[in-house]
Amino acid sequence: MRLAYSDEGNGRPVVLLHGFPLSRAMWHEQISGIGSSYRVIAPDLRGHGDSPAPDGVYTMDEMADDVVESLDELNIAEPTVLGGLSMGGYVAFSIMARYPNRVRGLILMDTRASADTPEVARDREASAQAVLDGDSARPVVEKMLPRLFGRTTLEEHAERVESLRGLMEQSPPRGIAGALRGMALRPDRRPMLAQISVPTLVLVGEEDVITPPDEVKVLAGAIPNARLVVIPKAGHLAPYENPGAANSAILEFLQSLHAR
Ligand code: MLT
Repeated sequence: MRLAYSDEGNGRPVVLLHGFPLSRAMWHEQISGIGSSYRVIAPDLRGHGDSPAPDGVYTMDEMADDVVESLDELNIAEPTVLGGLSMGGYVAFSIMARYPNRVRGLILMDTRASADTPEVARDREASAQAVLDGDSARPVVEKMLPRLFGRTTLEEHAERVESLRGLMEQSPPRGIAGALRGMALRPDRRPMLAQISVPTLVLVGEEDVITPPDEVKVLAGAIPNARLVVIPKAGHLAPYENPGAANSAILEFLQSLHAR
C-alpha cells in the first residue's frame, strides 16, 4: 500500500514509526531535532494519518511491507536506522525479522516483544467493535489518553495532551479497528531478540505505565548489542513528552553508529 510520509533533512536515513492510534505528527520534535544531521523518513502507517484505511485486519507484517515499499519508492536500498514506538516497535520487529538487510540499527521506544495475552486480545476486539459501532474514535481515545502520558505531562503540559487528543480523534474508526485486530494477532518476538545483531537503542519513559521501565529493561537485556536509556519526566510517549532528552539519546546513538 502507498503510504503518506514525510521525508526531511539530509544525511543517512532514519525511519521513525509512530504508535497507535497516532501519526507521523508525533515526530515533529524529532524531525526538527534530528533532521539537521540525518534524513528522517516518517510514514503514516496504514489506517493512520493521511494513509489509506482499508477494511480488514492490519497485521504487523502488512504494515511492515508498506514501510519497505515506501523505502523502495524512495530508492533507499541501503540499510537504515529503524525506530519504532510501541506499535511502531512491533512493526520494526517484523521488518527486522523479515528484511534484516534493510536495518542498520534499531531504536525501540516504549515497546514490548511479547504477544498479547488472551485477555488483552479480547479487550482489543471489544474496543474495535465499539469504535466501528459508534463510528467514532472516542471510546479508544478516552480509554487510552490518561495512560499514554506520564504524570508530569498530565500535570504540567496539558497542551501536549490536548494536541494529541485532536490527532487521535481524527483517526478513522476502520483504521483503529484494523490496527487493534492486527496487534492482537502479532507473534511473540522474544525468541528473536538474542539474534538481533545490529546496534540497538532502547528508550522508555520513566513514568510509562503501558510498557513500564522494568519490563523494557528486560527487553533491552535480551538484545545482545542494546543500550537502555530511561527518559525522565515522560510516559509511554517519551520522545513526544520529553523531546530534549530523547533527541540527545537518539543523536548520541546515531553518531556512535555512524562512527563505526
Ligand atoms: C501504542 O502506543 O502504540 C499502543 O500502546 C500499542 C498497544 O496497544 O499495544
